[in-house]
Amino acid sequence: MTDRKVRWGILGSAKIATNHVIPGLKRASLCEVHAIASRSEDKAKTAANQFAIPKYYSSYEQLLEDSEIEAIYIPLPNHLHAEWSKKALEAGKHVLCEKPIALNTEDVHELIKIRDKSKRKIGEAFMVHTHPQWLRAKSLVQSQKFGGLQAIQGFFSYNNRDPENVRNKFSQGGGGLWDIGCYPVHTARFMFGEEPQKVIASFNYDQKFKVDKMATAILQFPSGPASFTSSTQLVPWQTMHFFGDKQRVEIQIPFNQPGDFPSRLLVDDGSDVTGYPEEIVIPPADQYAIQGDEFARAIIENLEVPVPLENSLYNTAVLNALFRSGETGTWETPKV
Ligand SMILES: NC(=O)c1ccc[n+]([C@@H]2O[C@H](COP(=O)([O-])OP(=O)(O)OC[C@H]3O[C@@H](n4cnc5c(N)ncnc54)[C@H](OP(=O)(O)O)[C@@H]3O)[C@@H](O)[C@H]2O)c1
Repeated sequence: MTDRKVRWGILGSAKIATNHVIPGLKRASLCEVHAIASRSEDKAKTAANQFAIPKYYSSYEQLLEDSEIEAIYIPLPNHLHAEWSKKALEAGKHVLCEKPIALNTEDVHELIKIRDKSKRKIGEAFMVHTHPQWLRAKSLVQSQKFGGLQAIQGFFSYNNRDPENVRNKFSQGGGGLWDIGCYPVHTARFMFGEEPQKVIASFNYDQKFKVDKMATAILQFPSGPASFTSSTQLVPWQTMHFFGDKQRVEIQIPFNQPGDFPSRLLVDDGSDVTGYPEEIVIPPADQYAIQGDEFARAIIENLEVPVPLENSLYNTAVLNALFRSGETGTWETPKV
């Protein structure tokens, strides 16, 4: 055990930061939130007061200059992720950046170069990657009883038609595939432990916002297909299903699992269509606190971060290939 804590600075008073990540970092054992910056001094001060954060800044640059801060959490709109990740690395900080960390693979390659030069840690904030329910799901599909993972199906939707929301702004990297389709892509790659060889997708675009309101994709992995639909204008729902020779596993709330609510995995061998699947209940876990602690542990013990840039490179390449497929109408190969 160590009593060393990593001192964090937060760039922006984003909803994800104030609703989930700051409370998670405050609950985590290896983290302390040292400062928050906002473009508005009022917002920075309000957030600092709300969470008893010792310092606040009215510009992101000022926060990066604070020599007491070791790690930066970046919850800015998607089009600013790569830019501020680079600035934070160059300022000598470790960086945990929200998904998607970049909108093209060129930016990820540049981040890798800056990371290697600066010798800082940087990772993409796919909080699901270290959630106990996903670790359990992975061990279930790897068990003899499951019979080999051969197909994945997923769905992730919400209903948000607010023109002011970052998700509905094309110029800010909006749209459903970047916002939530990135999760089935990341988790399918995680569960197969492979990269897809080719992908195909069909998109429905919002005429006013010019962003995808629905995307349906197939990713062809060496072991089998993963397919999913993401949507920003449907009844909110989320599920991920995994199919083997002998069993199927379903994660009931794969992505937005509340930290104070047990997780449920359903395991079924299909022998009785009228019967109930076996239910595996996992105790409540705050995935944002776990994410903070695992990233902090990587800094303190000089370990690999949970989602390194090499992983992000493939996720970005798959998402870029899906958008290309939407234009060409054909299978596309992810290009890293
Ligand atoms: N991992 C997860 O569970 C999860 C969940 C939701 C969202 N996210 C990710 O987190 C990021 C933020 O999402 P959010 O819903 O929290 O967004 P949000 O509430 O709109 O926050 C974005 C923040 O970015 C700052 N900002 C800087 N330049 C901006 C600009 N030009 N336009 C708008 N805001 C600007 C603003 O902070 P100041 O005004 O204080 O400077 C704003 O509060 C996205 O990348 C999203 O993909 C992750």
